[in-house]
Amino acid sequence: MTDIGIGIAGLGTVGGGVVKLLRDKGTFFQDGLQLPVRLVRAADTNPARFSNVGLDPSVARSADAKDILDDPSVSVVVELIGGTSYAREFVLGALCRGKHVVTANKALLAEHGPEIFGAATSNGVSVYFEAAVGGGMPVIKTLREAMIANDILSLRTIINGTCNYILTRMAEEKLPFDVALAEAQERGYAEADPTLDIGGFDTGHKLAIMASLAHGGYLCYRDIPIEGISRVTKEDIEYARELGYTVKLLGIIKAAGDGRLDVRVQPTMVHADHILASVGGVFNAVLLEGDAVGSILLYGRGAGETPTASAVCADLIDCARDIASGAPQRIAMGFYSHSRTIEFLPLDNVRSRYYLRFGLADRPGALAGVTRSFADHRISIAAMVQKEHTSPDAVPVIMLCAKGMSVPHSRTSSSSMSSEPRHR
Ligand code: HSE
Repeated sequence: MTDIGIGIAGLGTVGGGVVKLLRDKGTFFQDGLQLPVRLVRAADTNPARFSNVGLDPSVARSADAKDILDDPSVSVVVELIGGTSYAREFVLGALCRGKHVVTANKALLAEHGPEIFGAATSNGVSVYFEAAVGGGMPVIKTLREAMIANDILSLRTIINGTCNYILTRMAEEKLPFDVALAEAQERGYAEADPTLDIGGFDTGHKLAIMASLAHGGYLCYRDIPIEGISRVTKEDIEYARELGYTVKLLGIIKAAGDGRLDVRVQPTMVHADHILASVGGVFNAVLLEGDAVGSILLYGRGAGETPTASAVCADLIDCARDIASGAPQRIAMGFYSHSRTIEFLPLDNVRSRYYLRFGLADRPGALAGVTRSFADHRISIAAMVQKEHTSPDAVPVIMLCAKGMSVPHSRTSSSSMSSEPRHR
């Protein structure tokens, strides 16, 4: 079999990890698996990176990633440039030239998935994207292959390591949000633009990909209700702990039972006994529920050099196997293999347990007025705490409401979160 030439664009953290793994595992891939994969060209605008990643002298180097597209010895292009404008043009260029693409770019697929998968289909090539969701955790393979015989009833995900790290540090060390964010940035966990992480948008991108795969239709990222963690205070985390909960940024996908999907990104109080409560630090987890298999938990490192490179290399090997077996589109391209239109359950109709924190005037009957109003709306209170004064004109009140309540976040001036009870 002739060589399967790989061209890699972007030698940052993940790119460096891919170069390293291809070098360390090259003998196994080529002799053990009998797959003649070979890195033939690398591109990066920063020439120092070629030596930083220890590129073999036999690998051609370019400052311009487009050289990879023009290189006839490259049949698989690894896109690790990031962003959605140049990367889109680059990926479409590769597909139109009949080259397969491996990418870790979740924003690109969440925002331009139909165009990219359409181009792959019409050019008879494939796009592999395991590294786009959950880093080293095999979420894409699990959804597209392992769970193919299931209706996916729900996915509850902790899929942004930066947010999970920040919330964990706020809980463990009682750090304010800003200090925990600065720590995450120093350690290199956050995206170049941290608003993608803390604003919940990175989770939204990954959720759009997972929901589209799980439900066989393209779900537009821009339609997902997204709330990040920047409004979560250390007081919220402390009160949650007193009530027996921990705060996590969850990406949730739930079949509503009427054909619609409840999809949202929300800070959520997770009961200490729930399996997701123990997922700390930069770790990611995806709890999937299928109608045939029941629950499956994936847990692992969702970012970083070697975990993400592990997923990219797994895609490269899948791609080489598909090429070797003459089935380059073995798995139908795209999210929307059933061409389904996915209908959202509007946030107003999502019924959930909610946590509320608000300041109340310190006068007789004030709390009774609030609880009466809850009773009038048939909302049952599961737990409640009133603290002593923290400011002269208000006392803090924390409530956890029993299920059945609907509180869209954007409409509340006080702090609010949904909650996940004990894991069954
Ligand atoms: N910024 C992402 C995270 C990295 O914190 O999880 C990989 O998507």
